Amino acid sequence: MIRPLVWEKGRLLILDQTLLPHRERFLVCRTPDDVARAIRELRVRGAPLIGIAAAYGIALAGDAIDRAAALLISARPTAVNLAAAVRRVAAVGPRRILVEARRIHAEDAAMCAAIGRHGAKLVPPGARILTICNTGALATGGIGTAYAIIKRARNVTVYACETRPVWQGARLTLYEFAKDRIPAYLIADGAAAATMREKKIDLVVTGADRIARNGDTANKIGTYALALAARAHRIPFYVAAPRSTFDFSIADGRRIPIEERAEAEVLTAAPRGARAYNPAFDVTPARLITAFVTDAGVFPKPPPPAAGKVR
Ligand code: MRU
Repeated sequence: MIRPLVWEKGRLLILDQTLLPHRERFLVCRTPDDVARAIRELRVRGAPLIGIAAAYGIALAGDAIDRAAALLISARPTAVNLAAAVRRVAAVGPRRILVEARRIHAEDAAMCAAIGRHGAKLVPPGARILTICNTGALATGGIGTAYAIIKRARNVTVYACETRPVWQGARLTLYEFAKDRIPAYLIADGAAAATMREKKIDLVVTGADRIARNGDTANKIGTYALALAARAHRIPFYVAAPRSTFDFSIADGRRIPIEERAEAEVLTAAPRGARAYNPAFDVTPARLITAFVTDAGVFPKPPPPAAGKVR
């Protein structure tokens, strides 16, 4: 099993995802600043996993907990898991921070397993599934969200969007599929609609970075286009997420902060001086989502907040 975060001898070891799939190297983080930098630079990424990493980051803060919390929360804005996990560990008092970080990590692993169990029931044996970004062990504290469903389903074939500009699909999801021996084809992001029609895709399943009260869902850029194409082809479109990804404090997707990243990420093949617009996420309106697969079951609308859970 891939372990993207390891707490060892008072340090956080982060598997550097920018080097995958070619090199498996761990970064050693000794301070909250090290962890915040790793999150900003996508060395660790995926909504649940950046929350877990940031929770361990607070355990490295010594007395400067408030400063570390502000720094880590500001590292990436869209995924609600990050701020929620930081606030949760920062509230328990210095001596219990590590215990609480470990608890968030273990809870996430359990939620991934539950998502896989619930979601697999939606997938007919032999199904053809389309997905985007990376939602597996490299994005979570367990076996993943959308990925957990794919992993638990029987005899499926997956079409994975390469997920430009940072290639989380090509570099990370295909790496996980190879390790898990799941049959998969990589597709260019622009090939998604044609693949739905030509390859008779049975369902689309994606992860989420933040889900508003009405079900509007922020996820990796390109997810909205998949939902539109799925609706046009009458294919079910599922969002898989733990309850820690639901943000009941916001009514709808208009209030989800969308991270805009450096133009250079998009401009690798463009002539010098070209400009780019590079939002990392988009918001899929709730009306395009068939159901939410959560650790608590499958819901047509966001489930009610769970008492005693991450927020
Ligand atoms: O920019 P990233 O790689 O952090 O984006 C990750 C995603 O969009 C995932 O789909 C999302 O975090 C949910 S997966 C557990």
